[in-house]
Amino acid sequence: MPGLFDPLRIRGVEFRNRAWMSPMCQYSADDGVPNDWHLVHLGARAQGGVGLAMVEATAVAPEGRISPWDLGLWNEQQQAAFERIVRFVVEQGATPAIQLAHAGRKASTDRPWQGGKPVSEAAGGWVPVGPSAIAYNEGYPVPHELTVEDIAILVEQFAEAARRAVRAGFQVVELHAAHGYLLHEFLSPLTNRREDDYGGSPEGRRRVVREVVSAVRDAIGDQLALFVRISASEYVEGGWALEDSVALSAELKALGVDLVDVSSGGNLPHQSLHPYPGYQVPFSRAIRERADLPTAAVGLITEPEHADSIVAGGDADAVLLGRELLRHPYWVQDAARALRKEIDWRPQYLRAKR
Ligand SMILES: Cc1cc2nc3c(=O)[nH]c(=O)nc-3n(C[C@H](O)[C@H](O)[C@H](O)COP(=O)(O)O)c2cc1C
Repeated sequence: MPGLFDPLRIRGVEFRNRAWMSPMCQYSADDGVPNDWHLVHLGARAQGGVGLAMVEATAVAPEGRISPWDLGLWNEQQQAAFERIVRFVVEQGATPAIQLAHAGRKASTDRPWQGGKPVSEAAGGWVPVGPSAIAYNEGYPVPHELTVEDIAILVEQFAEAARRAVRAGFQVVELHAAHGYLLHEFLSPLTNRREDDYGGSPEGRRRVVREVVSAVRDAIGDQLALFVRISASEYVEGGWALEDSVALSAELKALGVDLVDVSSGGNLPHQSLHPYPGYQVPFSRAIRERADLPTAAVGLITEPEHADSIVAGGDADAVLLGRELLRHPYWVQDAARALRKEIDWRPQYLRAKR
């Protein structure tokens, strides 16, 4: 079994190791355009040695942003600004990835540090969309229910953003189908009450994801990598659960998805979630074994030995780190030292190597 510091190849894409940077919204863009903050945020972790640096949830359409300050990839200006970031990440030896997203009924909220509550139209927000006209929670707007025509446009928006991602130089596209955002909302029987072809049965609820995946696979060609992040369980009685995730993952594999990034939760405010170190790892293992495709594990993984054992023990093919990398951009260098692995340092920093 390979360990955390063994390289990985997926299609034509190389990863120098399996310690990856998880996508993390920075709520720091104007009009969806990445700026110096995003360059340093991703660039520092790439310098620090991650195998993959993943851009945060990036909206495929303006109304798909979680907040007015989210990144977007629906126009030329955004694409051009991403090119600079991709170039820097690649120069540092990391593989550039981007998570394409649509926030669905959880769109148009304030920055978390400003309360994170819905932003009204009067205050610069918009009316969100969803599979069904059901609000996320009290105080949240009732979303506009997408029509079949709207869904066709949505699928094309994902494909167009994926083409832009390729032109900007990204080597991995991840689709955000987790955390209660639009694609997840379609999957869950609790948020998708449609009776047309896009709901009604497990097959129908998975349809939007299938269509988006197929369109994006076509858009990026067969040399680049396609990941999908899912919530393996939504921790609510009668909701989306591990069995559904295994069935979905098997379907994704057949459609050309290379890896499932296994997260959980976020679709319903009354979820019963009790996190502990590596709490989502068992989901990753189950999906990897039962759907027979590569997975990544994420969630409260902070110790080098733990991360290494997840890969070496066959729980996942890679580990994504989120908050630990916000605290320690150079975590990977320290982890290599702790695990007695030799990795390349940036030559400018060699005098600090221990
Ligand atoms: C500030 C912040 C922003 C996040 N934004 C995203 C995001 O854009 N997309 C996503 O899939 N997950 C997002 N997440 C979840 C992380 O990617 C990760 O799955 C989660 O934090 C658990 O991993 P950790 O314990 O290593 O932080 C975010 C988490 C944080 C802390």
